[in-house]
Amino acid sequence: MAEVTLFLREYARTRQDVGAIAPSSARLGKALTRYVIPSPGRSRAVLEVGPGTGAVTRYITGSLGRLDTLDLVEANSRFATLLRGTYGRDPRLRVLAGPVQEHELGRYDTIVCGLPFANFDARTTAEVFDRLLGSLRPGGTLSFFGYVGGTTVRRTLAVGPDRERTLAGQGVMRNILRRYEFRTETVLGNLPPARVHHLAPVSAPGQAERDGSCACREASS
Ligand SMILES: C[S@@+](CC[C@H](N)C(=O)[O-])C[C@H]1O[C@@H](n2cnc3c(N)ncnc32)[C@H](O)[C@@H]1O
Repeated sequence: MAEVTLFLREYARTRQDVGAIAPSSARLGKALTRYVIPSPGRSRAVLEVGPGTGAVTRYITGSLGRLDTLDLVEANSRFATLLRGTYGRDPRLRVLAGPVQEHELGRYDTIVCGLPFANFDARTTAEVFDRLLGSLRPGGTLSFFGYVGGTTVRRTLAVGPDRERTLAGQGVMRNILRRYEFRTETVLGNLPPARVHHLAPVSAPGQAERDGSCACREASS
């Protein structure tokens, strides 16, 4: 409960950065962590970007093996302090405070990202995806989410320079999805309903378009 209160307080204080009115639901947490797959006997490195109060983190830690590691990168210092209090004694976890753009990232098998891309400008979105996709090991995946209908609402309501900024950001996101997405799922059991995107780096520029591997599968939960 204290986590929800902190989340709401931080949303009221910095709504652009927090970008959600409530922490992710259990269903969204499970969909986002679908590719955090236990792998006994092998060490896996997982990164969560924008963990907030840890609503999704608990599903990642639930499937972490003894040899696995989890880096949590959180821009909000109050959330980072909360996460350190919850996970500080687990040697597999590191909490890195500050924007992900400012951190030296490692190499990861799985990345789960909770960033509010709808609030980012085109350049920031492109920069963040560049860094995250570039930090994946071969065969790695990146999962993130947006809200159902959010793109249309923003495009409709934005005016003037804000509209240009919104359209540019959405254009960058569309290109990223076209190029790297291999699966999408709709999660109705979240406030608001969400769409989860699962991405994997393509082997060569344009490869996904040529071999059709960017065709998306849709599922609801
Ligand atoms: C939509 S909330 C998601 C919180 C949590 N993952 C969940 O699903 O409930 C977005 C989170 O991203 C964090 N954030 C925003 N910009 C960030 C950045 N550039 N780097 C790291 N974290 C960021 C916010 O502070 C917030 O905790």
